[in-house]
Amino acid sequence: MKTINDFNFKDQKALIRVDFNVPLNDQFQVTDASRIEAAKSTILKILKDGGKVILMSHLGRPKGIQEKYSLKHIVPKVSKVLGIEVKFVDDCIGSTAENAVKQLNNGEVLLLENLRFYDDEEAGDVQFSEKLSKLGDIYVNDAFGTAHRAHASTEGVTHYLKAVAGLLLDKEIRYLGDVVGNPQKPFMVILGGAKVADKIGVIENLLPKCDSIIIGGGMAYTFLKARGVNIG
Ligand code: 3PG
Repeated sequence: MKTINDFNFKDQKALIRVDFNVPLNDQFQVTDASRIEAAKSTILKILKDGGKVILMSHLGRPKGIQEKYSLKHIVPKVSKVLGIEVKFVDDCIGSTAENAVKQLNNGEVLLLENLRFYDDEEAGDVQFSEKLSKLGDIYVNDAFGTAHRAHASTEGVTHYLKAVAGLLLDKEIRYLGDVVGNPQKPFMVILGGAKVADKIGVIENLLPKCDSIIIGGGMAYTFLKARGVNIG
């Protein structure tokens, strides 16, 4: 797997899929910036090379365009984490986005509007993927938290641009590959999160490999209910 370390990004437009699906409070402030911090090394390496960074992400699960899911809310936090002023454009495809990219200088960062404002993103629409690809010279996937989704910005766009892994994606895949492929025994898995539907496949895959699983987070209720516990 090629990573960004295999390339020099000087004068290149790097279209980076990040997972900035971060929690916001009532004032639309980011309450946990871990996912932004996790993408920092990838972004800074490309800027240091002398490239341009175009960031794309989803936020939440909007139904069409909903202001509360606009990625504009996170611009101050992304700027703070990266230590440079991040530009924002209120679309992720088309002439508005293309013009914003044209105005970008080497060493600058542009954040596109929420990909999921278009249904085409989750549908993996090929024309939408192609429109996204017009915004970069090379595609970088550093969205580890979304890499399991075959969406236009994760899988579709790779058909139109050279694709490499970001440092976060590379690290997580290598780590998971070693731990899950060749675990030291005893091997206990601790699994959490809210979205149990996505995790059933993960659990089924891990069961034959591990000695025990601890399930926490919101999805623990599903298992308790299945056992007949009154969860309210
Ligand atoms: C997550 O938070 O689990 C990822 O960002 C993926 O979001 P999704 O489950 O809405 O696709």
